[in-house]
Amino acid sequence: MAALNVVVGISGGIAAYKAVSVVRELVLAGHDVHVVATSNALRFVGLPTLEAISRNPVNTDLYEGVDEVRHVAVGQAADLIVVAPATAHTIAKIATGQASDFLGNTILASTAPIVIAPAMHTEMWQNPATVANIETLRSRGIHIVGPETGQLTGSDSGQGRMSEPSDIVAAALAAVASSHDLAGRTVLVTAGGTREPLDPVRFIGNRSSGKQGVAVANAALARGASVTLIGANLEVAPPVGVRLIEVGTTLELQTAVEAEAVTADLVVMAAAVADYRPAETAQSKIKKRSDSRTLELRLEENPDILRTLSSHRSRDQIIVGFAAETETDDSVLLQLGQAKISRKGCDFLVINRVGWTEGFASDRNTVIVINKLGDRVGEANGSKLSVAHRILDLVFAAR
Ligand SMILES: Cc1cc2nc3c(=O)[nH]c(=O)nc-3n(C[C@H](O)[C@H](O)[C@H](O)COP(=O)(O)O)c2cc1C
Repeated sequence: MAALNVVVGISGGIAAYKAVSVVRELVLAGHDVHVVATSNALRFVGLPTLEAISRNPVNTDLYEGVDEVRHVAVGQAADLIVVAPATAHTIAKIATGQASDFLGNTILASTAPIVIAPAMHTEMWQNPATVANIETLRSRGIHIVGPETGQLTGSDSGQGRMSEPSDIVAAALAAVASSHDLAGRTVLVTAGGTREPLDPVRFIGNRSSGKQGVAVANAALARGASVTLIGANLEVAPPVGVRLIEVGTTLELQTAVEAEAVTADLVVMAAAVADYRPAETAQSKIKKRSDSRTLELRLEENPDILRTLSSHRSRDQIIVGFAAETETDDSVLLQLGQAKISRKGCDFLVINRVGWTEGFASDRNTVIVINKLGDRVGEANGSKLSVAHRILDLVFAAR
């Protein structure tokens, strides 16, 4: 990628110290980085650090550099604006177009892609005001990276932690590379794991958290697609801006997929669905038996949603399946994937290794992508968001 003029906006949250790494990574990648810090950001991180690391003067005072009309010039010159961390306050300011400081003016004066990395406590992130502001930003094509779930400033943890600097940089550069390459496309994603009820309190389920599917939804959204997410028992928050349909069982997922797939250009079936469900669901809690030390469960086969969908799809629709395998040998993993894609008839299959510690709940993933001929078209390794972008790149590039 050619060197870019990148504005890094930093607002006043604890995660401002991590913004130094964002600046550093962009500089080391060869980009010309101009920091615009709010006055509150400079309470958290020192101006000399930012100037030394960015190798440029830091802009903070609206009334400095007036002879160059700098508050407009910086925004006009930018190829990319990254705001990290984006506080609730700065998000609100951007959403309402406020120009009370240097950063606000820069953003209004720019037509470059904007990527923001929110960071705040969970309650602030989930507050309806912030949710509405984020929705406004997304609807204007602003890319939102994170926030992640994890340790927050104090001893508490939850959603609101700023994404890692390398993920922010990757998403920001991807935003320039693919600025709205999916605009006008409709993407349907399934995520999570289905639960098949045994009785009113128990189910047969799996350990899928939904993180990879939600990351695909996030990536598609950031690239301008209109996204519907069918979530089965998601353990992560769905991205603001998707149309969410919540389901519990495989049969419910099937009904939702069949209704939604009709209008989708791309269907990504990342949810882990159950191959079997209990043949009978007890209407009251199954009691422990005193006359036997075993309990037999009879299971019946669930419909094969991916195969049915693939056989009924329209000519231009792309269908991507997922295969979660516990096999450790790469070549066997590939063989299992090849056998699966020939059974299912989808266009691409994303094969990922899962196990006691790999795959499901992790924030990272390693996948191999094959096409319908069984040929390996690529692989990805990294955060689930970067894997999601890579999957979208691969499936659209191969078309
Ligand atoms: C110690 C401390 C930590 C803070 N961390 C955050 C934060 O992570 N996210 C946030 O939205 N606000 C945070 N705030 C509140 C912001 O600093 C405050 O809303 C401020 O007005 C933001 O200004 P700015 O967005 O113009 O930089 C924090 C405040 C303090 C005192």
